[in-house]
Amino acid sequence: MTRQRISFWTLAAALAAMSFVVSRAVEPEPKSQPATSHVTGDAGEKVNEVRRRGPRLLGNTSCTAAGCHGGVRPEKGIGGEYSLWLQNDPHAKAYSVLFNELSQRMVEQLKSPRPAHQHGYCLSCHSPTANWSPEPATFDGVGCEQCHGPAEQWLEPHVHPKWKSRLMAEKTFLGFRNLHDVSERARTCVKCHTVVKHDLIAAGHPRLFFEMSAFHANLPAHWSRESDWVRHVPGTDADSRQPEQIPASELRLGRSNFEAKLWVSGQLETLHFTVKSLGFRAGHGMKHNPRWPWPELSDWNCFACHHDLKGSSWRQARSSSTLAIGKPGWNSWPITIIDFLPSAGDEKHVQAARESIGQLRDLMSRPYPLPNAVYETARATQDHMTYWITSWMNQNMRGMAISRELIDDWLRQMSGGEGQKLIAENWDSATQVYLGLSALTPAAHDARSDVMPNDERHQARLAILGSMNQSLNFPDGFNSPRTFAAEQIERLKRDLKRFRETLEEGKR
Ligand code: HEC
Ligand code: HEC
Ligand code: HEC
Ligand code: HEC
Repeated sequence: MTRQRISFWTLAAALAAMSFVVSRAVEPEPKSQPATSHVTGDAGEKVNEVRRRGPRLLGNTSCTAAGCHGGVRPEKGIGGEYSLWLQNDPHAKAYSVLFNELSQRMVEQLKSPRPAHQHGYCLSCHSPTANWSPEPATFDGVGCEQCHGPAEQWLEPHVHPKWKSRLMAEKTFLGFRNLHDVSERARTCVKCHTVVKHDLIAAGHPRLFFEMSAFHANLPAHWSRESDWVRHVPGTDADSRQPEQIPASELRLGRSNFEAKLWVSGQLETLHFTVKSLGFRAGHGMKHNPRWPWPELSDWNCFACHHDLKGSSWRQARSSSTLAIGKPGWNSWPITIIDFLPSAGDEKHVQAARESIGQLRDLMSRPYPLPNAVYETARATQDHMTYWITSWMNQNMRGMAISRELIDDWLRQMSGGEGQKLIAENWDSATQVYLGLSALTPAAHDARSDVMPNDERHQARLAILGSMNQSLNFPDGFNSPRTFAAEQIERLKRDLKRFRETLEEGKR
C-alpha cells in the first residue's frame, strides 16, 4: 500500500472516531493593548521597503534554538514545536522526498532538464524557502514560516514578553499569520494542497484531494488541540481562561464549534483557491502560453475520462447527474458541498457567488472552455466568494455558537435527497459527502449536553460511516477506486438512508 493511501483512509477512520489526545495546556493570552506606536524615520523607510518587496523568509534555523522552539521536552509546554515537527510532521520530509525514486522518475517522464530538488515548480510546494534563498541550509521542507508567515519583521519582536499582549492586527502587519482564525488557517493549507497539473499526476504525482477537517486531524499537532476548543467556547471571553477552568460540557461545545467552523471554512477556502487558480490558468490560456496548457485536464472530473468501457454502463443508466452525458465537467471535488451548503454567511453574497459558480460550471462543461470567459467569470466568482467568506467570518466571530440545530440541518441536507443525488454522481462527490458527515457527526454529538459518549444513535452513525468508508476505499495497489458502479452506489445509498433515519429518530 502506498503511504498517501494509508494516511488518507486512516485519517478518515480517525475522523469518525474523532478522539483527540489533549497534549498540553495553553497559556492564556492577556487582553490586547491598543496600538500606540507609529513607525517613523529610518524604521518607516525599512517598513516601506519591505512592503514593496514582501517580507523575507529566514528559514527554520531562526526558530530552532533550544531555548526557543527547539526544546526536547515538548510535554512541558511551548518550546518543543521544532522537535515535534521534525519527528512527526510530514512537512519536515517534504524536501527530502524530492530525492526519492518516484520524484526522479517523475521529472524524467516530464522531460525536465533539472532534478526534482532543483525544479522550481516542485520546490514551490515542497520547500518554498529554497526558491527564494541561495543558502543550502534553508532547504527546510515545509517549514515554520510556510504556515506562520515570513519572519523577517516579526522574528525579533515576537520573543519579547510584550508580544503576547499586542493586537493581532499589529502582528499580521509584520507578516505574522493569524492561525487562530480558522479561515486563515485553511487558506494557509490550500495554497499547496489543492491543485497539481495533470502532467504531474500523469507522471506519478499523487492526486491532491484536500478536505480541511480530515487533513487537520491527520496533522500531528505541535500545539494544544484544546486551545482551539477553548477559543470557540461560545459567549465568554475564552482567551482569558485556562482550559481546566472551563467545565467539560462547555469545552465540548467549544470543540463542536471549532470543528464545524473548520469544516465550513475549509470548504469555502478550497473552492476560493480553486477558482483563483482556474482564473490564473485561463489568463495564461488567453495568452496561449504553451507552458501552461489550456484547458488543463486536472480542472475536470478525473473519472469522466479515466474509466473502463462496458456495454450498458451505469453511467448511461444514471439519471441524477447534473451534467448532460459525454462531457468531462468541472472537477466536482471542491464544489460538491458548497453547491448546497445553506446558511453559512450573508444570503445576498451567498446567492451572488452561487450564480457565478453556476456560470463557471456551465463554461467548464464545454469541450473548449473559452479562456476569456472563464477568466472574467473566475474573477467575479472570486470577488463574490471573498464577500461570502468575510460575511461568514463576521457572523462566526470567536464567541459565536454554531447551533446544534444548524449542524443537524447540515447533516440532514447531506444525508437527504441532495446527498442521495451526489452519491450517485461520482466517487469525488460521494467522498465529500462522507467526509462532511464524518466532520459534523462528532460536532453534532458534542453540541448536545444531554447525551453520553456511548449514546446509541451516535454509535450507530459511526458504524454507518465505517461502512461508507469501506465502499469508498481504494483496493490494494490502486490510486483510485477499482470501479465506482451500481453496486457501491446502492450500498452507499442504503447507508445514507440509514444515517438519515438516525437523525429523524433524534428529533423525536
Ligand atoms: C501544488 C503543490 C505541489 C507541487 C507543485 C508539487 N507537489 Fe509533490 N506533493 C504535494 C502535496 C500536497 C503532497 C502530499 C499529497 C497528499 O498526500 O495529499 C505531495 C506529495 C508528493 C510525493 C509523495 C510523497 C510521499 O511521501 O509519498 C512526491 C514524491 C512528490 N510530491 C514529488 C513532487 C515532485 C517531484 C514535484 C515536481 C515535479 C512535485 N511534487 C510538485 C504538493 C505539490
Ligand atoms: C503546516 C503548517 C504549520 C507548520 C509547518 C508549522 N506550524 Fe506551528 N502551528 C500551526 C497551526 C495550525 C497551529 C495552531 C494555531 C495556533 O495556535 O496559532 C500552530 C501553532 C504553533 C504554536 C503555538 C501558538 C499558540 O498561539 O499557541 C507555535 C509556538 C508554533 N506553531 C511554532 C511552530 C514552529 C517553531 C514551526 C517550525 C518548526 C511550526 N510551528 C511549523 C501550523 C504550522
Ligand atoms: C508550502 C506548502 C504546504 C503548506 C502551506 C501545507 N502543506 Fe501539507 N503538505 C505539503 C507537502 C509538499 C506534503 C507532502 C510531504 C511528503 O509527503 O513528504 C504535505 C503533506 C501533508 C499531510 C500528509 C498527507 C499524507 O497523505 O500523508 C497532511 C495531513 C498535511 N500536509 C496537512 C496540512 C495542513 C492541515 C496544512 C495547513 C495548516 C498544510 N498541510 C499546509 C505542502 C504544504
Ligand atoms: C479530459 C480527459 C482527462 C481528464 C479529465 C483527466 N485525464 Fe488523466 N489522462 C488523460 C489522457 C488523455 C492521458 C494520457 C493518455 C494515457 O497515458 O493514458 C491521461 C493520463 C493520466 C495518467 C497516466 C496514465 C495512467 O493511466 O496511469 C494518470 C495517472 C491520470 N491521467 C490521472 C488523472 C487524474 C487524477 C485526473 C483528475 C485530476 C485526470 N487524470 C483527469 C485524460 C484525462
